[in-house]
Amino acid sequence: MNAAELIESLAALRSSALDDARAATTPEALNAVRVRVLGRKGDLTSVLRGLKDLLPEDRTRVGQEANHLKDDLEAFLTGRQSALEDAAEQGARALDVTLPGRRPWVGGRHVLTALEAELVDVFHGLGFTAGEGPEVEDDFHNFTALNLPPGHPAREAHDTYYVSDTTVLRTHTSPCWIRAMEQAKPPLRMVFPGRVYRAEAIDASHSDQFHQIDGLYVEADRPVTLADLKSTLTEAARRIIGAKVKTRFRPSYFPFTEPSAEMDVTCIRCGGSGALAGGDRCGVCKGSGWLELLGAGMVHPAVFEAVGYDPEKVSGFAFGMGLDRMAILRHDLPDIRLLLENDVRFLEQFS
Ligand code: DAH
Repeated sequence: MNAAELIESLAALRSSALDDARAATTPEALNAVRVRVLGRKGDLTSVLRGLKDLLPEDRTRVGQEANHLKDDLEAFLTGRQSALEDAAEQGARALDVTLPGRRPWVGGRHVLTALEAELVDVFHGLGFTAGEGPEVEDDFHNFTALNLPPGHPAREAHDTYYVSDTTVLRTHTSPCWIRAMEQAKPPLRMVFPGRVYRAEAIDASHSDQFHQIDGLYVEADRPVTLADLKSTLTEAARRIIGAKVKTRFRPSYFPFTEPSAEMDVTCIRCGGSGALAGGDRCGVCKGSGWLELLGAGMVHPAVFEAVGYDPEKVSGFAFGMGLDRMAILRHDLPDIRLLLENDVRFLEQFS
């Protein structure tokens, strides 16, 4: 081949190599083009083999032309290479509209929080507002002002965690009445939900932390009677459990109320018969047909005196109930500890 023919084949090689490189759609195919054109046994090498037959001045000219071709092709191949790599990477990350959506994780209310909100709402409907008090309480509010002076035997029924000689973890939410009455004059219609503490041995049905909601109803311009207590709490039970529920009041003892009572409601499982559909004894109420729901009573005059109210002019009733037991009954829970462990697998079932 003479110089002109060699230059022509270099030009042909240039255009075929560029065509092939543009047609390559993967980094691997592009590399095959590179090897075929620029490789040691490639097309360019075989064209250059013809150089040795040329006159020296032609050899320089054709050689320069070959070097240009080599540089141009290399530059083109490198650019194309990175373009293909980018495209491959983007393809891997591309939006696949056929994938199922990812559901965002949504939290829910804790069983006890939900129950507490529900009860607060029921009492709100009966004219009560919600209040609260401290969990670390002084002896006066937790005991003395509630007619449980130092040495009173009923103090022993509360297995108390002492923070110091005069400070305790509150053993009930009743001290909230005292704080509310210290701050306001009658009339007062309030409920106080919150966590309470007792130094109990812990097992499936006992915890040293649990939850109560206390209520307080106080009037100064008319005598509040046991009829107010019974009607209010019976209506509350209907709204909490259902319109068919029946209530009964059993005499009881609490130092801060006189008279005191415990209110039972007909069993939420068997409806009060004590037996299940198949005739088996109801396990929830143990066959009695009744469940104990709350403690209540007419506020003791000594409690009014402790907050500076005149017991001759002021009267009222109060009540308190445990939320944990209610949650256990309602959801048929096997262990009270589930309510405090915050195992998401447990909690998720209620959200
Ligand atoms: N505080 C009492 C307890 O924890 C329960 C209770 C609350 C009794 C309010 C009542 C009352 O008579 O009015 O055991």
